[in-house]
Amino acid sequence: MPTLIKGKELAQEMREKLGKRVEKIKNITGRQPGLAVIQVGSDPASSIYVRNKQKACQACGIKSFGYELPEDVSQTQLMELIDTLNQDEHVNGILCQLPLPDHLDEFAVTQSILPDKDVDGFHAVNTGLLSMGRSCLVPCTPAGILAMLKAYDIPLKGQRCVIVGRSNIVGKPVAQLMLKEHATVTIAHSRTRDLPGLCHSADILIAAIGKAHFVTPEYVKPGAVVIDVGINRNEAGKVVGDVDFTSVASIASAITPVPGGVGPMTIAMLLENTFQAYLKQNRVNEEQVDL
Ligand SMILES: NC(=O)c1ccc[n+]([C@@H]2O[C@H](COP(=O)([O-])OP(=O)(O)OC[C@H]3O[C@@H](n4cnc5c(N)ncnc54)[C@H](OP(=O)(O)O)[C@@H]3O)[C@@H](O)[C@H]2O)c1
Repeated sequence: MPTLIKGKELAQEMREKLGKRVEKIKNITGRQPGLAVIQVGSDPASSIYVRNKQKACQACGIKSFGYELPEDVSQTQLMELIDTLNQDEHVNGILCQLPLPDHLDEFAVTQSILPDKDVDGFHAVNTGLLSMGRSCLVPCTPAGILAMLKAYDIPLKGQRCVIVGRSNIVGKPVAQLMLKEHATVTIAHSRTRDLPGLCHSADILIAAIGKAHFVTPEYVKPGAVVIDVGINRNEAGKVVGDVDFTSVASIASAITPVPGGVGPMTIAMLLENTFQAYLKQNRVNEEQVDL
């Protein structure tokens, strides 16, 4: 049986620990960390994500400020709200739930959030710092993947890592993080030749494709570590990953489940990023909040 990488359990531990650090710092500064969450329109999936993020904030003592804007909000109105939040000292992190309706310029919106409040890590300043291996706000899903690999003591140095997917949200930033850990990294995508052969060479395979059960045993080297980022719904409406879990688990040495793997870690890292943003904005040293 492979090691089951239990993201849900790890995320819960991280959130409990963070709650204690938040409590400690509130006693020192008298201030509560704050996260503003903006949702445009009422897409049901986005509403669930936003609600879960807000609940997670409240559970660990981070104040959440919710902004629900109508589907037809103008670019100017949205940018004005972000500008106000950029200047609000009670707001340490700003998140604008994506995707946005087609009439809005997603790039302009993400770049209008101050880099120090960009808890999603999508601003070009944070992306640039990440690619230079410098400290910055790292996108939450990639940060969660790294935290899981480290918590399970999975060796990264010198390991061959293949990432399927080259999005700015997952594929590219997770590649940067793995490179920083001295893995040898290959990013694959829809035009990659012999994808099964390439994936089969990986010691660590990260699937961020968005296609249910795409990764089957022919993609996986026996003994490889498999990280499944995908969130897809099958015909029965059940959430499934990009990896065909049952068949791949029979040959992998470690694997993340869906649900209960990468997803909960993403939220835990959002809370951690908000806390890090708060520490920086309030000039608090990390040691002051050590437990
Ligand atoms: N667990 C979480 O917290 C979390 C967070 C974010 C995303 N997700 C999930 O992760 C998945 C990926 O998300 P994303 O935002 O990165 O998606 P995305 O922007 O749609 O990117 C998908 C990537 O997969 C590649 N791809 C698609 N079909 C392929 C194929 N047949 N062979 C090889 N590569 C293929 C695409 O290649 P091209 O670039 O060539 O088109 C693209 O680079 C989705 O299921 C999403 O819901 C989960």
